Amino acid sequence: MKNGAEEIVVIGLGYIGLPTAIMFANSGYRVMGYEIREEVVEKINSGKAHIVEPEIDELLTEAIKSGNLRATSNPEDIAGKDVYIICVQTPLKEDKTPDLSYLEKAVKTVAKAMKPGSLIVIESTVPPLTTVRMARLIEELTGFKAGEDFYMVHAPERVMPGRIFKELVYNSRIFGGITPESAEKAEKLYRAFVKGQTFKTSSTVSEVVKLMENTFRDVNIALANEFAFLAHQYGINVFEAIELANTHPRVKIHAPGIGVGGHCLPKDPHLLIWPAKEGFGLIKLAREINDSMPLFTKDLLFSALKELNVPPEDAVIAVLGLAYKGDSDDTRNSPALAFIEEVEGDVKEVRTYDPFVPGTSGSVEEAVENADAVVIATDHSEFKNIDWERLGKLMRTRILIDGRHVVENPPRGFLFKGVGRGEY
Ligand SMILES: NC(=O)c1ccc[n+]([C@@H]2O[C@H](COP(=O)([O-])OP(=O)(O)OC[C@H]3O[C@@H](n4cnc5c(N)ncnc54)[C@H](O)[C@@H]3O)[C@@H](O)[C@H]2O)c1
Repeated sequence: MKNGAEEIVVIGLGYIGLPTAIMFANSGYRVMGYEIREEVVEKINSGKAHIVEPEIDELLTEAIKSGNLRATSNPEDIAGKDVYIICVQTPLKEDKTPDLSYLEKAVKTVAKAMKPGSLIVIESTVPPLTTVRMARLIEELTGFKAGEDFYMVHAPERVMPGRIFKELVYNSRIFGGITPESAEKAEKLYRAFVKGQTFKTSSTVSEVVKLMENTFRDVNIALANEFAFLAHQYGINVFEAIELANTHPRVKIHAPGIGVGGHCLPKDPHLLIWPAKEGFGLIKLAREINDSMPLFTKDLLFSALKELNVPPEDAVIAVLGLAYKGDSDDTRNSPALAFIEEVEGDVKEVRTYDPFVPGTSGSVEEAVENADAVVIATDHSEFKNIDWERLGKLMRTRILIDGRHVVENPPRGFLFKGVGRGEY
């Protein structure tokens, strides 16, 4: 352990909390990971990660072996520390409003454990004004004064699963303090491993910045989806149109497709607008457009079945890809799952194949045998090299629906339709 270094508690050891705890521990800090799931605590203390991420096993072993990292579910173990970093989940409820119960519980745990002078960092993605609200909650619970007796910061995480340990070091970071001194303290602390640029601002600006980043992407994908919708009505290939439009030096249109998934994009726009009294409606509409794309893909499938006189109730559908993005095993909020939910009750059988997701068919061949239609829902590299004419021989009816622009030229002998492919 570094001489005189602060003792750090990381609350919530998931995709964000565990790598963050490991990074601080391997930078010489003594880190206690506080986690409510007992099985996660046990696994981490035995040197095994409960999440899949490149390099995590070696880095975790190093952190545990050095004695710098230990996990616990006992609140007594985290009393009186210098720094508390909150990394709990901030999901949406059924009605698409934020569920801040995990965060509030974590903040209450911190309020009980902290000492005068503690720095509290919220890394979780939160609705605007939440950090200030949590500071008030701590003031009420402890009698301490924010900015004088404790410091509080929102330091959003921008990492992408699959690249977490690289991006933790090289991404730029924002430290939004409830006071300038709070931001300064957090920036100094994270310099232990951050090599990217760092910026200091207020906690509310920081919250909004994080949410704007993902909302920007979500709204732009919705715009691309609207272009795709129009392309079907004008009988053109939207991807050709987008490629040509993107030759303009100031235009960068995103890619349309079967929908938007993952942990952050479907959630963060809702967090951004939730505390606001009014808005123009663009962000909400964009969410609705992206959420409707699995249904749009279903319409393509059902019109193809109709064209070839296959009654939907007799149809066997093979869905290729369950993950929300190519070459990943992450199925959280995947539009492939939303698509399956849309069609399942209306067809005879839905089979799935995803090379990264356990529990699906053993191969593309197995999934498509005697099927009436193939629907590509994820742009895994493997799907780009499929010999469709060979595969078509295994199928009962040759319908190919491309939800991810994987197939450039429709294979011979297939009825082909794709999101944005209005020319067919
Ligand atoms: N996963 C990502 O790629 C990513 C990227 C950027 C930002 N974020 C944001 O980071 C935050 C965390 O995301 P995640 O993917 O790590 O979530 P996660 O669900 O993987 O991990 C959260 C962990 O916190 C634990 N927990 C919940 N309440 C607790 C409490 N009161 N005390 C102790 N432990 C508690 C849970 O058991 C879980 O292990 C979210 O706000 C998310 O939006 C995530």
